[in-house]
This record gives sequence, structure tokens and C-alpha cells, in this order.
Amino acid sequence: MISGLSDGLSDIDRMLMRDTGMNLLTLGFRAIGADASEVDVKRFKAASVPITSGLGIIGGFSRSVADIVRDMGIDCFVTEHTDVWGFGEAIDRGADIILMADDEQYMAYSVAAGRYANNSFCTAAGYVEALRGAVGGLQGKEVFVRGAGRVGSNMVSLLCAQGARPIVADVIREKAEAVARANPGATAAEDLEEATAEAGLILNASPVPIPGDLIREGAVVSTPGIPHVYDEATLRKAKFIHDPLAIGTAPMVAQCIIYTMEKEREQ
Ligand SMILES: NC(=O)c1ccc[n+]([C@@H]2O[C@H](COP(=O)([O-])OP(=O)(O)OC[C@H]3O[C@@H](n4cnc5c(N)ncnc54)[C@H](O)[C@@H]3O)[C@@H](O)[C@H]2O)c1
Repeated sequence: MISGLSDGLSDIDRMLMRDTGMNLLTLGFRAIGADASEVDVKRFKAASVPITSGLGIIGGFSRSVADIVRDMGIDCFVTEHTDVWGFGEAIDRGADIILMADDEQYMAYSVAAGRYANNSFCTAAGYVEALRGAVGGLQGKEVFVRGAGRVGSNMVSLLCAQGARPIVADVIREKAEAVARANPGATAAEDLEEATAEAGLILNASPVPIPGDLIREGAVVSTPGIPHVYDEATLRKAKFIHDPLAIGTAPMVAQCIIYTMEKEREQ
């Protein structure tokens, strides 16, 4: 997924620079409210552990994760062993951060701090930050969040914290209403399709691509949702920010580095 090209930028860095004005490292740290330029990321070492239950072992997942971490300028190896043995190998080989996923959880673990960053929150933070970068700030702006599950509910909280005005919708209306109630400043949309068609700024945190004819001309769609399938005409009429893994992974790594540095300061 990540490949270095002649200008020295990886595909994901080139896409993010063009669409958000940030590379992956900068975006990852900003997503969790930190500044990458104040952190010597090169002194940290990460490990990606293949997990044989679920996603972890499928489709070179752990290798893709390691590529993303290296793209942030951080040394990362894939353990030779899997599962618990792989976790032990990561510690024995001096990893500061250990990344691993099964079907239920994708986490980055800070060995020094004994704390982990979770993908649902960090994916929300990464895509909200990408949207913020793309439109030059979110304060006071209306943002439509489609999907009120793990990622979408975190997006709504993050938007409220930034002073944006989230409108949330879900095929299960009660879920959107519960998320709106829990986040003062957010509202639940009356009608999912109408709210989609009216939105200029969209975060799609549902597993369903938005029908192209519902997307407004000139909309900005920051969308972790998988699958991500749009026809040429739809891709031309709106700006889409999407990546299957990197935008959610970078804030996890950044969060673990911050946890590790906080622990070091305590000692
Ligand atoms: N790109 C990434 O790095 C990344 C990371 C994590 C999750 N994801 C993807 O993001 C999406 C959301 O993940 P999640 O963990 O929050 O899932 P989730 O199952 O917790 O939540 C999804 C929500 O979307 C709602 N929904 C389903 N169809 C809908 C539709 N047509 N319109 C509106 N809402 C609809 C569901 O009712 C549910 O509340 C999934 O597609 C997941 O694969 C991507």
C-alpha cells in the first residue's frame, strides 16, 4: 500500500499533502492534539504482531501496519512469531510500541506506559483532523456524520470539542439520537438521505458507500467507511479523503508515543 516514489513521498503522504496539507506523521500527532515537530520519533521502535484469529493474519495486515509506521519515520518490524509468542518476541527485541489486531480490537500498546490506543477513537480522530486540514478549520461549521457506531460516535464528540456543529444520522435512528443526546451541541438528523444531500462536509462512518447521486457538488467527504466504492462521476464532483488503514493507525502510534513520553517524565 505504501510505496516510495521519486519525490521521496509515499503514496499516502502525497495524497494527504494534496488533500489536507499534512503528511501522515503530522496528521497522526495533530489528531490527538500533539505536535510531531516537538517529538524525536526516530528514537522509538515499533513491532507489528501477526494475530492468527481474524483480521491480523489476513491479507498481509501486519506488514501493511509496519509499512505505515515506517512511513511515519519510525522503525518497525514484523515479528517472526504470531500471537502471544509474537508479543513476547516484540518485547524481547526492544519494541516500545506493539501493534496487533483481531476481529474485535486493533490496538497499539505502549510497553513503558502499559496503556493502549484504540483504533475506533483514533480513526475518528484521524478523519476529523483530515477534514479540518482539508477545509482550514471546523469551528462553527456544520458537519454531517453518517453512522453512529464506534467510529461515528467518537467523531461527534471530537467535533463538539472543536466547536463544530455535528449532525448525526444512522439507519438505526435511536443510535443517532442517543449519540446526539450524549454530546451537547450535536443534533440527530430528521432524515438520513435529506441530511446527506444537503451536507457540504461529510464524515462517513458507516460501512455503506453513500449513493453518488446523494452527494452534493463540491462536498468534502472524509470517509473511513469500508468498502469505499464510488464511480468516476461521483469522485469528480466531490473531494474524498479515504485510506483503508493509515489515517486510523497514525494517531494510534502518536498516542502511544505520547503515553511513553508521559511515563518517562514521571520517572
Ligand atoms: N479506514 C479505516 O482505517 C477504518 C478504521 C476503522 C473502521 N473503519 C470502517 O468504518 C466503518 C465504521 O466502523 P465502526 O467500527 O464504527 O462500525 P460500527 O458497526 O460500530 O458502526 C457502523 C454504524 O453505521 C450504521 N449504518 C449502517 N449502514 C448505514 C447507512 N447506510 N447509513 C447510515 N448509517 C449506517 C450502523 O447502524 C452502525 O451504527 C466501517 O465500514 C469500518 O470498516 C475503517
